[in-house]
Amino acid sequence: MTLNTVAVVGAGTMGSSIALAVAMSDLPVVLKDVDSKAVDNGIKRIEKMIASQVRKGLSESDAEKRRALITTTTDVKDIADASFVIEVVPEQLHIKEAVLSELDRVLKPGVIIATNTSSLPISQLARFTKRPDKVVGLHFFNPAHLMKLVEVIPGLDTDEVTVEAAMDFARKLGKMPVRVEECASFLVNRLLGRYMNESLFCLEEGLGNVEQIDQAVCDYVMPVGPFTLRDMNGCDIGLAVARFNFQEYGPRYAVPGVLESMVANNWLGQKTGRGFYTYDAETKKKSGINPELPSVVKGNASVNGSLNPERLFLPMINEAFLALQEKICRAEDLDPALKAGLGMRKGPLELAGDMGLDNCLTQMESLFEKYGERFRPAPLLKRYVFAGHTKVI
Ligand SMILES: NC(=O)c1ccc[n+]([C@@H]2O[C@H](COP(=O)([O-])OP(=O)(O)OC[C@H]3O[C@@H](n4cnc5c(N)ncnc54)[C@H](O)[C@@H]3O)[C@@H](O)[C@H]2O)c1
Repeated sequence: MTLNTVAVVGAGTMGSSIALAVAMSDLPVVLKDVDSKAVDNGIKRIEKMIASQVRKGLSESDAEKRRALITTTTDVKDIADASFVIEVVPEQLHIKEAVLSELDRVLKPGVIIATNTSSLPISQLARFTKRPDKVVGLHFFNPAHLMKLVEVIPGLDTDEVTVEAAMDFARKLGKMPVRVEECASFLVNRLLGRYMNESLFCLEEGLGNVEQIDQAVCDYVMPVGPFTLRDMNGCDIGLAVARFNFQEYGPRYAVPGVLESMVANNWLGQKTGRGFYTYDAETKKKSGINPELPSVVKGNASVNGSLNPERLFLPMINEAFLALQEKICRAEDLDPALKAGLGMRKGPLELAGDMGLDNCLTQMESLFEKYGERFRPAPLLKRYVFAGHTKVI
């Protein structure tokens, strides 16, 4: 595939950082949005990112080169000659439908349309075009100009040439593409969801307060704790994701009551100044634990501080085995994807090997007795233990 011009459709949070990632690889990119205000906002975001790169040592001439590679438009005709297109419009089916069918009409036959959707089925989005074989998921992580991982997700009708071209495109951007078969939330966010939910169940049980749990997982393998992360992303977004996973995967993704209460109280995190923590109105810096939190934690659980951080990762490990069983990705890609996507120092399979697969299974069985579905051991984990394997890869 010869890449002349790349088009990015949608100049929001993700579209602007994807456009910069393209320009950083010396490729020209056209950034399209609905009106000039939206385009200007996208350019402002890109300017901020480039300014930060300059502060970190990028030369003014290289910064200028990046700016010059990015052009903007509000007219779809201006991207009719693009050789690779990434759709990055809001996560609503009717918007995606309108945008994808319009792109299909104006783009040359055979041009790939990649979608950055985080949850909509690629197979369904592909049907909005007459080229479902050329539609593929290209799931960047935020911020896309810095994060290495890109999940490449074929739909049912995506052809192999398209998948390979999307992998190559991601490599050209200096990214680490991982092929992920289609499933709800794809690989990294699917596994992340189990751990994020478990952090809330641990809080409800009083195994630690938000600070203690955040600290324990940071000491263990994470770059940031689950409550800090929820406050950064917004509890409303977190609740929507948790409900979606529950709808798609059923009881093992049960939605923790405390998350519902956070949203009901409008304690959404940094953006409302109060979430699991409180934030200074001016500096936006954390100022302490939300003092009213105990009122929404089920049963006002008193904190006994007995958390073993492994408890939060067992559901993630179990989900990793379920994903492998479904052949969602290659076993050798799983840990690298989780490490690149979430900044974990060790991936779930390595953690399982460290704990001992038999020990993982024993812990999971006893937690299953106590809590039910969340801990039903994955059949593949059992098979590894029965076969006497001590690690997966
Ligand atoms: N925000 C994240 O962290 C994140 C991470 C991975 C994937 N995603 C996915 O990326 C996509 C975009 O998310 P976002 O956070 O950047 O959204 P956003 O709301 O910040 O940006 C969307 C942009 O699309 C524009 N748009 C709407 N209709 C359009 C049209 N017809 N033509 C061109 N532009 C149009 C909007 O004006 C807006 O600028 C979604 O599918 C989301 O699920 C988001």
